[in-house]
Amino acid sequence: MTTITAPASKKTSLATLAGLLPFLSPYKRQFLLAAIALVVAASATLAIPYAFKQMIDLGFGAAGSKSTTHVDLYFIALFGVACVLAVATAARFYMVSWLGERVTADIRSAVYAHVVTQSPQFFETTQSGEVLSRLTTDTTLIQSVVGTSISMALRNVLLFVGGLAMLFITSVKLTAIILLALVAVVLPIVLFGRRVRKLSRDSQDRIADASAMAGEILNAMPTVQAFTHEKIEARRFGASVENAFRTAMQRIRARSLLTMVAILLVFGAIVFVLWLGAHAVIAGRMSGGELGQFILYAAIVAGAIGALSEVLGEAQRAAGATERLLELLGEESPIRNPALPQALPPRSAAGAAVVLEDIVFHYPSRPATAALSHLTVEIAPGETVAIVGPSGAGKTTLFQLLLRFYDPQSGRIAIDGVDIRALDLHVLREAIGIVPQDTIIFSANAMENIRYGRADATDAEVIAAATLAAAHEFIERLPEGYQSFLGERGVRMSGGQRQRIAIARALLKNPPLLLLDEATSALDAESERLVQSALEAAMVGRTTLVIAHRLATVQRADRILVMEDGRIVESGTHASLVAQGGLYASLAALQFSLH
Ligand SMILES: Nc1ncnc2c1ncn2[C@@H]1O[C@H](COP(=O)(O)OP(=O)(O)O)[C@@H](O)[C@H]1O
Ligand SMILES: [Mg+2]
Repeated sequence: MTTITAPASKKTSLATLAGLLPFLSPYKRQFLLAAIALVVAASATLAIPYAFKQMIDLGFGAAGSKSTTHVDLYFIALFGVACVLAVATAARFYMVSWLGERVTADIRSAVYAHVVTQSPQFFETTQSGEVLSRLTTDTTLIQSVVGTSISMALRNVLLFVGGLAMLFITSVKLTAIILLALVAVVLPIVLFGRRVRKLSRDSQDRIADASAMAGEILNAMPTVQAFTHEKIEARRFGASVENAFRTAMQRIRARSLLTMVAILLVFGAIVFVLWLGAHAVIAGRMSGGELGQFILYAAIVAGAIGALSEVLGEAQRAAGATERLLELLGEESPIRNPALPQALPPRSAAGAAVVLEDIVFHYPSRPATAALSHLTVEIAPGETVAIVGPSGAGKTTLFQLLLRFYDPQSGRIAIDGVDIRALDLHVLREAIGIVPQDTIIFSANAMENIRYGRADATDAEVIAAATLAAAHEFIERLPEGYQSFLGERGVRMSGGQRQRIAIARALLKNPPLLLLDEATSALDAESERLVQSALEAAMVGRTTLVIAHRLATVQRADRILVMEDGRIVESGTHASLVAQGGLYASLAALQFSLH
């Protein structure tokens, strides 16, 4: 089990980025186009200082000896280079941004598609918030690398190499001098720039801290006010905001210093080289155009160095993000499909036969205590079995194992004679309908919420299932009937109504095995009667296991299993168990108010 590391500043090898290759390889054509645009744009950039030199030396310097048409030609050529630069730069930006967005979208979908196949064990140790931040923050970092950093790096390497070569061609001596000047100028700016960036990240983190705190408190407003903690919370938030302000001020101070130093150093170097160059021009060792060309190439080389250092930091962070995403993608669910799944025998009219043989099960997070120990039970097709027992007895766990959310450490579960580990997970889960204790209602209309039971059901089938589940009437009375929006931002429903939606879902699925976890919230008498009749409709023509909290349900069952501490301690009919005077008799005396 992975504990996904927080996005720390830990150094990851840049080689990790190679893990992105499978996501990049489908787009070879686009990469090629981007590379062409990039090389053209870099070449045009490198041509501009040369064109400038021609313009100065031949356009201005020798204006007397040349015809105006000649002069016009140089200006037209310079503008031509600028046109090529404009088109190639736009094309590069378009291609590279497209790649960044495309690859990020692919990675997001791949990670999400992988995460939704994970077993509950994964979600016990990984918070959904963490997965979400992988999907947003980490993929955004990768987007910046694919979408800009790669092209920035290539472009600046080209500019650096090309610019340097052109510098040497123009003047070897001045180049030697300017290289020293470059080191003296660029190095402090780069190092200082890193510090400023780190400070700006810190300041973002402080703001995130403050808003996380505010978010938690705003969600707990009734508690805060009931305990009259408003002032304390406001003060706590104020302190957090002050902290963010102090961090921001550190960044701002460093930034203004950096601005001053950068301008001084850059202009100092330019003035110094210009001064040297002016002397060379006066002495006739260099033309004015050559000096201009030289200064422009020097600026290109200096800019390339600065950009490369920035790209490196960015790539480093993206490598970390890639590592975490690949880790998530590599996460293997312990519940796996068999290599050669067996088929279920044809469905019998009565329902599924279920056998649990000597099941021993510990939750992975609590290996020391057995949630089920040596549990054996056989359930005939069509039987309705009520499971009762005190809280923590292992009733819900039994359902989890039947759905194969977990595998038992020993023992065997079979449906219609086939070991469930030999079945395809979808085949197994399609054979089981579950009405959970707490129904999840999705943000969708009533029709779609019920259709969750079987995605290809027609509207008429949905309505038929809702009618059987005693949900039709109340849905019709909603403001927009079946089109009414449910869920968090929609119509709120009572516990009994939610449960009838869940029953309708299960009925629509029409599974041979039905698992019911009765609602424990006190339903009002009318709801209870409706839910009860819905449950009875649901049990027809299938095997049903019901975790029962109501005497009415228990009495109607063919058989009652009494569970305690992961074992079945009693089994029989209501009358026989009451006569035994054991655990069931005492639970029945309490009217099953335990859950
Ligand atoms: N996800 C889990 N991880 C660890 N222990 C669990 C988990 N779910 C349930 N348990 C433990 O397993 C035992 C059986 O729980 P459960 O099957 O939910 O009981 P019941 O449904 O009968 O009330 C309890 O001791 C419970 O604390
Ligand atoms: Mg339970």
